Amino acid sequence: MRIALLIGTTAELDSCHALYANTLVSEGHEVWIGTVNGLSSLGTEIRCPLGKPDGTVEAFAPLPGKLEQRDFADIDAVWVLNYPHPSVEEAAWQLLWCLNQQVPFVNDVTGILMLNTKTALPAVVPPRHLPRTLVSNSFTELWDEYQTAPDTTWLIKPPAGDAGADVYLLEPGASNNRVLLQSMTGNAAITDLLTKGGLMGLRNRYCVLQEYVPHPEEKRVLLAAGRPVAQQLHRLAPGEHRGNTAHRAQCTDTELTADEHRLCLDIAEQLLRHGLRFASIDLAYPYVFEFNMVNPGGLDERLDLALPDRTPQTIRALLKAVTGR
Ligand SMILES: Nc1ncnc2c1ncn2[C@@H]1O[C@H](COP(=O)(O)OP(=O)(O)O)[C@@H](O)[C@H]1O
Ligand SMILES: [Mg+2]
Repeated sequence: MRIALLIGTTAELDSCHALYANTLVSEGHEVWIGTVNGLSSLGTEIRCPLGKPDGTVEAFAPLPGKLEQRDFADIDAVWVLNYPHPSVEEAAWQLLWCLNQQVPFVNDVTGILMLNTKTALPAVVPPRHLPRTLVSNSFTELWDEYQTAPDTTWLIKPPAGDAGADVYLLEPGASNNRVLLQSMTGNAAITDLLTKGGLMGLRNRYCVLQEYVPHPEEKRVLLAAGRPVAQQLHRLAPGEHRGNTAHRAQCTDTELTADEHRLCLDIAEQLLRHGLRFASIDLAYPYVFEFNMVNPGGLDERLDLALPDRTPQTIRALLKAVTGR
């Protein structure tokens, strides 16, 4: 089959881009790599800067060769592996959506756009597997919710953050807690006060306020074609409340318990209903903290640890689910 991987920039491939491209080639497929920021349309024809690498590609190196603007007429499946840049984002997603009407995607555009955020977790994850959560862009509303349980520890994070960025703990009684909630919602009231009423325009930003669930370790589970396919244990580093490997979480191979497996199957099946065939979830059973459908790390993590590579069977299952072949 001919598969197009769409990434942010070909100036440097990441470890997942290289792993998927090389595995697809070794499985006998033809791989084209293009940038998601250069899409165009001529009538109904969607085009993109695409190039076909000769042989193996390297992670953390530029894609060799030139890209040419070409259409997707002979492409069997498209895999979006990065978000478009914010300056072209809206048109890029619209062009991708048009393309998705013509060519199957590993993850459908509507599913990615609507569900690749912590805001959408309740649409897919059963309520008892989510910590108590308020998503709002109003400091007042968030502060009122915080004050319903000021003696417990809360956690705040951006709805579409990544790698643990801006994930703060609100410890009971800390005077920073109000400040952090104000900061995460854009300091809207303070700016209004200073500029005598909104000269700066709408400042509010969304923030997730969530009950903190203490846990020493969590699992990063990869879901493909409606099933869990690989999982790693992340043990939190001393003095850290974030289980991301970017924050020194120690990573090892692990299995799922029967309960975890059932939950992952359930979530994976729900995601399939939205055309989402490849995703990861962060799980500290019984709680799910997030899912990620655009280039989740995990399969690459296993190679760094010299664990068995689950990429070939994952890719086979994905292509079967996407194209029926
Ligand atoms: N409600 C929570 N209780 C305890 N720890 C949490 C909670 N939410 C997030 N975390 C910790 O913070 C890390 C990063 O949060 P996550 O929701 O996965 O966002 P990100 O997209 O930044 O990875 C998680 O891996 C987990 O260790
Ligand atoms: Mg995470």
